[in-house]
Order: sequence, then structure tokens, then C-alpha cells
Amino acid sequence: MIKQAIIPLAGLGTRLLPLTSVFAKELLPINGKPGIEYILDECINSGIKEIIFIISKKKEMIKKYFYNDKFYKEIIKKKKDKRIINEYKKILKYKKMVKFVYQNKPLGTGDAVLKTKKLIKEKYFLMLLPDDLIIKKNCSNSMIKIHNKYKSSVIASMTVNKNSVSRWGIFKLKKRLDKNNSLIEDVIEKPLIKKAPSNKAVIGRYILPKKIFNKLSKQKPGKGGEIHITDAIQKLIHENEKFIAHNFSGMYLDCGTMNGYIKSSLEISKL
Ligand code: UTP
Repeated sequence: MIKQAIIPLAGLGTRLLPLTSVFAKELLPINGKPGIEYILDECINSGIKEIIFIISKKKEMIKKYFYNDKFYKEIIKKKKDKRIINEYKKILKYKKMVKFVYQNKPLGTGDAVLKTKKLIKEKYFLMLLPDDLIIKKNCSNSMIKIHNKYKSSVIASMTVNKNSVSRWGIFKLKKRLDKNNSLIEDVIEKPLIKKAPSNKAVIGRYILPKKIFNKLSKQKPGKGGEIHITDAIQKLIHENEKFIAHNFSGMYLDCGTMNGYIKSSLEISKL
């Protein structure tokens, strides 16, 4: 059973500057609610019991968001406002589930994942990248079902424009298992257009095996000098570890770019 999820939050968010110069992008409102709450709700609604946040000293405001009890208690004592009481209860519910680890240098997603090594208890865990919002269908929930059926790692996948492949991790697929799931033969981080094996891209939802930590602890920096999770996954695939690409059916919103961030509020307001 997948009971633990990890969420890397230690990146700099440069594509959302100036919004991120003093503010954590994951707390920016999307249709009136901090983006990270959509991600937490996706975890909770798919049966996750513990969520590990990877933050940095620069992003301690994320921790503060969940540990602002004194402030809430004083306001509630004065105002007895039902809406505020409910918001505080929601924060308390989240707080019970969330643990924090630190990655003080943003060396890459792979390095962020490695920081959770000591806390992962089961053979597999879920990872969600908070910039990737998926609405209308709970992607993590669907992926957990696939994991339970095939007892393997699973990665969310989406068909992207052929001209944009060098922005993504790209899959080479081996064999179709059913309508929405295929075995992965290879995955390549940000390939050149002419070298891309397909236009099926990695989206930020992963069910990963605990053995990925062995690969990450030895991994050298890859493209752009960063330690990418994709490179560790590639190593495992080359050693015949089974990974499935899951073509999810929800709507993908890229909240890590300014256009995508603006669009996400518009789309969610239509729900
Ligand atoms: P990205 O590289 O897409 O986003 O990381 P970023 O670094 O936050 O923002 P830009 O590219 O400068 O605009 C994907 C996810 O991985 C986390 C980020 O916080 C984001 O949620 N991350 C990235 C880490 O936790 N540590 C890292 O070293 C790198």
C-alpha cells in the first residue's frame, strides 16, 4: 500500500519572478486557495497518511503556514468567526500529516528526493511536484490503483507538442498494457527534438521504489548541472525495474510559469 507522499518545495521559482522574490510560489493563491492545498487534498483523497515536505531555509514560510496556531487562536477568541474556525481546522488536519525535511541548496529534484531517505518506510512512495496541478480527476488515486494492479512503479504521462519535447522528461515506450498504461523502455531528461524517442512527457506524479535512494546517493549532476530524478529512474529502468507510464485523464495545469499560473485560476473557477 502507498501510504507516504513526498513533495519537493525547495526550488527557487525563478519563472514566477517577481511573485517569488519574497514569497513561496506554492502558497500563491489559485482561485482563492494556496496551490499547495490542492496537492494536499489530492494526497488525502487518495489514501495517503503521511506527507513529507522538502523545503529550504528560504522557504520556511511554508512551515509557518501550518504552524501559525497562536495567531489563529487569538483571532478566533476575538472574532468567533465560523469561516476562520473552519479554515483553522483544515490547517490542523494538514499539520497532523505533514513532516518537514530541508534541502538548503537547490541541487535538483533528485537531490531533494534523497533528503527523505531516512523517513520512507514502505517499498514504494508517491511523489508529487506541486507546480503540476491536475484537476477534474485525482491522478494520484488512479496511479495508486495501477500500482496495486501491476506491483510496479508508475509515472504520470501526457502527450505534448513535438516542438516542446526539450522542455520535458520524455518516454520511450515498450509495450501497451491497456488503454492508458504502457511499460516504459527508457526515459530521457529534456532531449533535443531530433533525439526525442516520442512526444510522451513525464508529468509531476510518480510512484517510486525505495531502491531509488541507492541510485540517487551515487548520482552525478546531469543536464543544466542538476541532479535530476529522471536520471535515477533511467538507471533503474536499465536494470530492468518495471516502470509504467500512466496516461492520466484529468486536466493538466502548469503553475510553474506565469501564463500557466494565471490560466490555473481561470480553469478552477469554471469547476
Ligand atoms: P522546477 O525546477 O520545475 O522548479 O522544480 P523551480 O526550481 O522551483 O522553479 P524555476 O524553474 O526556478 O522557475 C520542480 C519542483 O521541484 C522542486 C521545486 O520546488 C518544484 O516544486 N525542487 C527543484 C526542489 O525541491 N529542489 C531542487 O533542487 C529543485
